[in-house]
Amino acid sequence: MPPLRMLITAGPTREPLDPVRFLSNRSSGRMGYALAEAARAAGHRVTLISGPVVLEVPRGVRRLSVETAEEMRRVVLREAKRADLVVMAAAVADYRPVRVAPRKMKKGAAQQVLRLERTPDILAELGRRRRPSQILAGFAAETDHLLLHARAKLRAKNLDFIVANRVGRSDAGFESPNNRATLLDRAGGTRRFPLMTKKQLARRLLAAILSATD
Ligand code: PMT
Repeated sequence: MPPLRMLITAGPTREPLDPVRFLSNRSSGRMGYALAEAARAAGHRVTLISGPVVLEVPRGVRRLSVETAEEMRRVVLREAKRADLVVMAAAVADYRPVRVAPRKMKKGAAQQVLRLERTPDILAELGRRRRPSQILAGFAAETDHLLLHARAKLRAKNLDFIVANRVGRSDAGFESPNNRATLLDRAGGTRRFPLMTKKQLARRLLAAILSATD
């Protein structure tokens, strides 16, 4: 197979509350970095768009660092124009504070109400703008009704594939070096991958996606 231009996202986003605080999630970036490493090892040209993580950039991979969902959107939309395959493993915040305080918020009342607004859905936007030849894959992180929610996201975001993984457990999903997943495709196919390291899973997911689109 000739080398493809792959765009992979990884890690969390951070949505600031004030200059020292933010809303974020438990993503370590491991799954996305493992995908970038596997794609590079298979000879593809890889751009990795990463939220704040403490992982090393895999050798030969071009990394672009971002912090917020809005920054990730801007860089993903720009880079996706040239990508043959996009895999979004990043855990993008769905909400951000409506107001970012310019100075550190002071301790005061016993309770505070935080007003949040929706962030842009980057993958849904890619799904609307995609070129016919571009392959789009997302991840679905679910605590319940895994396959039902994942399939709904695949359809709503106009994807070719979605990797359904369960989160909220310690042996897989967020932060763990291991993961288990089910790969769903738009034709209704499913393929189950049992618990293994994220590096192994990344190789197997990529191979499955590429062989299905060959
Ligand atoms: O980083 P690790 O610690 O290794 O953990 C890996 C992981 C659990 C983060 C990863 O395997 C995973 O599931 N990533 C997707 C997390 C997520 O945001 O899932 P979601 O079901 O909320 O979103 C569905 C898809 O839409 C995802 O591809 C996401 O990148 C994308 N999305 C979500 C919200 C948003 N505003 N824009 C998006 O593009």
